Amino acid sequence: MNNTAVQEASSHIQEKMTTTPKIGLILGSGLGVLGEKIKNQITIPYKDIPHFPESTVSGHKGQLIIGNLEGKQVVAMQGRFHYYEGYSMQQVTFPVRVMKHLGIESVIVTNAAGGINTSFSPGNLMVITDHINNMGINPLIGKNDDQSGVRFPDMSQAYDKEYIKHAEACASKLGLSIKKGVYVGNTGPAYETPAEVRMLRLLGGDAVGMSTVPEVMVAAHAGIRVLGISCISNMAAGILDQPLTHSEVIETTEKVRGDFLNFLKEIINTLPQ
Ligand code: 6GU
Repeated sequence: MNNTAVQEASSHIQEKMTTTPKIGLILGSGLGVLGEKIKNQITIPYKDIPHFPESTVSGHKGQLIIGNLEGKQVVAMQGRFHYYEGYSMQQVTFPVRVMKHLGIESVIVTNAAGGINTSFSPGNLMVITDHINNMGINPLIGKNDDQSGVRFPDMSQAYDKEYIKHAEACASKLGLSIKKGVYVGNTGPAYETPAEVRMLRLLGGDAVGMSTVPEVMVAAHAGIRVLGISCISNMAAGILDQPLTHSEVIETTEKVRGDFLNFLKEIINTLPQ
């Protein structure tokens, strides 16, 4: 995956684009519904975009939606690429590199995650303050694109501090009680064992999922401001006396859909840029 591929994908998208979005949205499991709220939208199926992989997991659509949301021009990914699907890290983060090329300056990343912090409950929304890359691989390995960012990028501000404050202000304006915490990125596709969950809690994790970390690292490298929001879809293994299922994840994200949509819309409406 090289610069030419990024340019070819961008050109294809730009040919269809009638606006110049500055905000990117990456919508996770069960959260793609936000895409339907985008006005004057044009949709581009991933399969039509040169070099774009296709997403394979149920609950994810595979298309780019470009249009107006809350008075802001946005480009949204309805469905993302996961490392567990067998894609390389280059493929998983390709859309973020394309967004950078399109001129995106801010990205809002959403996901469904399991609660590690025992004070969390399914249905909580968590603003991500930091992450632990537990995937055993760094998406920035390979030749550095000096146009995008430096060889050894700082990750101490990967999640924009002003955006975290902004999200908290939006939540209190809406009367939503939200959590803040550290997201652990695991590869999946298996959920963690109870022992692994205890380990991740000791290491400082509050929620665990199978995405987000690669995209955020590539965005941070490229100087894109990031806001991350997890929907706590279930408690991680060993906390409740019940097995974990993907249908539970989808059910919970559907239940909090209303709050989640209102939260995101408020955030976008007044996002500092
Ligand atoms: Cl419990 N673990 C992981 N790795 N991903 C998840 C999850 C748990 N719940 C939703 N996504």
